[in-house]
Order: sequence, then structure tokens, then C-alpha cells
Amino acid sequence: MTTRRDINLGILSSVAAAATSGAATSSLAQSGQDIVLAPPSMSGGKTIMQALRDRQSIRDYSRKLLSNQDLSNLLWAAWGVNRSEHDGRTAPRWRDAYLLDIYVIRADGVWLYEPRGHRLLFHMAGDLRGQTTIGQPFVATAPLNLVYAFDTSKMPDATEAEINATSGATAGVTGQNVYLYCAAVGLATVFRESVPQSLAKTLKLPAGQIIQFAQTVGYPKT
Ligand SMILES: Cc1cc2nc3c(=O)[nH]c(=O)nc-3n(C[C@H](O)[C@H](O)[C@H](O)COP(=O)(O)O)c2cc1C
Repeated sequence: MTTRRDINLGILSSVAAAATSGAATSSLAQSGQDIVLAPPSMSGGKTIMQALRDRQSIRDYSRKLLSNQDLSNLLWAAWGVNRSEHDGRTAPRWRDAYLLDIYVIRADGVWLYEPRGHRLLFHMAGDLRGQTTIGQPFVATAPLNLVYAFDTSKMPDATEAEINATSGATAGVTGQNVYLYCAAVGLATVFRESVPQSLAKTLKLPAGQIIQFAQTVGYPKT
């Protein structure tokens, strides 16, 4: 039987072949398909102290799209693999469990970031940016929203208070990575709790996954 995963991998190999031939580089060119991200660049940007100096929340965005390279660097900074021998990540995690999934919400659809392959798995079609906010209109037109999905099924004995604390800390450490990367390269971002409770259902997430935080990213409006 051909599974969704087989289809994803098939599309991925054709996208990879196109990328090798130099054809698939536009960040908006692959709606409906998985996206092979460029390897993250380890050079460029400000120093860590300069990035901390410039870190801030910005809510005015240009509609300019992020390039594949910017998206790659951003996601790697957020939650990428930095010690591949044991799947170590750029952000710390609760009791060594992988509780976080990052969904990438753009005008042309929704993708799931897969850190080990450093790629985006196509999740669903449609422009759902406006559905990731309660009452903050800039979210619907900014080029990118990262949605932090938290898997409560991996904390079966936890109280609601423990889930909320761990979900907040997990999204928070990741969100700060995003803030610092954005400050380092001149991108704009804001971490948000203004997400509707229904978002996990809208995104058709597996049972047990909750969404309490999101983060908007783009270029600042000049
Ligand atoms: C837990 C948390 C939730 C936040 N939620 C929102 C939000 O829903 N919408 C928003 O515009 N900013 C949100 N922010 C950003 C704060 O408003 C912002 O960090 C604060 O005003 C200080 O500004 P600064 O980040 O520029 O220093 C949130 C920040 C945190 C830490």
C-alpha cells in the first residue's frame, strides 16, 4: 500500500532533484509539496551580544517572502539538529523528550518542520495565517507564522499546571532562538499567545497536541 509518507518521500526526491539542478529555489514555488531546505548557513549575522542588544518584538511587516535560505536558517536556529550523533537540538527540552512540533504557516499552505531531515513536510493547503490569531490583523498578512504544537500525550501523568508550564517553557526557549536569529539578520518577529483554542483542530493535529503559542516572522515594514 502506498502511504502518505511514501508519497511525501517521492515528492521530496523529485524536489531534491530539481533543487540540485538549480530549479527549485523559490520559497513559494512548491505549494502542495514537501520543501527541501538549503543547509543552514553558519556564517553571517551579528554577534550574540549585538543580537541581544537589538532583540525586540515587531508587529509591522513587509509582505516580502522569506527566501529558502532565510527559512532554513530560521528553522534551524529555532529547533534544528546541532549534535546529530544524538539528535541534539538548538533549544533545550523537558526530560529529553521531543514534545515540540513547529508548523510553518504561509499564504500557500501549511508545512511541518522535520528537523532530522531539515525539511518541510507538506501538511495542508490553504492560507490559514489569519486563523492563527485572535485579534491581531498583521498576522494574516505577514509572510510567515510559526505555530508551536506541544504533544501532551508524551506527558501522560502530568497535571494541567505541569503541562502549561512545560508547554510555555518549551515554546519560550524556541521563541527566543527565533528572536535572536531575527535580530541578528534584520528580520522582524513577535512571539504570541494570541492563538485561538481551536487552532489544533483547524490544523487537524493528532490527538493530544495542543497549541498555546505562535510566532510571526517577516521583514520589517520600511
Ligand atoms: C508569553 C508571551 C506571550 C506573548 N503574547 C503576545 C501576543 O499574543 N501578541 C503580541 O503582540 N505580543 C505578545 N508577546 C510579546 C510581548 O508583548 C513583548 O515581548 C513585550 O511587549 C515586550 O516587548 P519586546 O519584546 O519588544 O521587548 C508575548 C510575549 C510573551 C513572553
